[in-house]
Amino acid sequence: MSDVAPGPRMPAIRVVMMPKDTNALGTIFGGVILSYIDQAGAVEAHRTCPGRIVTVAMREVVFHAPVFVGDLVSLFTVTRRVGTTSVTVAVEVEAERGRPGGPKVKVTEAELVFVHVGQDGRPLPIERPEAPSGG
Ligand SMILES: CC(C)(COP(=O)(O)OP(=O)(O)OC[C@H]1O[C@@H](n2cnc3c(N)ncnc32)[C@H](O)[C@@H]1OP(=O)(O)O)[C@@H](O)C(=O)NCCC(=O)NCCS
Repeated sequence: MSDVAPGPRMPAIRVVMMPKDTNALGTIFGGVILSYIDQAGAVEAHRTCPGRIVTVAMREVVFHAPVFVGDLVSLFTVTRRVGTTSVTVAVEVEAERGRPGGPKVKVTEAELVFVHVGQDGRPLPIERPEAPSGG
């Protein structure tokens, strides 16, 4: 078995900002960033809960700095809590200014709660992996 050095953290998603994403000021519309945050959070929540999930809350959303056309935006995620039917995920958004490899700026962060639901849209308990039995 060989040791593997820890690599750079991997974003849940990455996307280049385009002119169609701008607001009246010419910077990136906050709603576009929120949409990507929702997608990235869902990618993370699916690691815990592969079934059907819906977003019940987006909270603690803070826009620290504007995002510009041409920025490469990476969304990093971490699972904070797994409840009976819900998964809480933190999302951090980082922009590489103007190009991949450009200066990195933390632009936005948020916490989201996803709920596992059945076909009827009602909450369902999240299946937990069985603990290994003692020997
Ligand atoms: C998600 C939904 C099914 C939850 O229904 P509900 O009747 O509130 O369900 P419950 O009260 O049983 O709560 C279910 C879980 O969600 C959590 N939850 C509910 N409202 C919450 C809120 N405002 N913030 C954080 N967590 C919340 C509860 O704590 C619970 O978690 P747990 O089981 O891990 O303890 C319902 O609110 C819904 O359908 N919302 C719309 C979802 C949607 O369409 N999202 C897309 C965006 S438009």
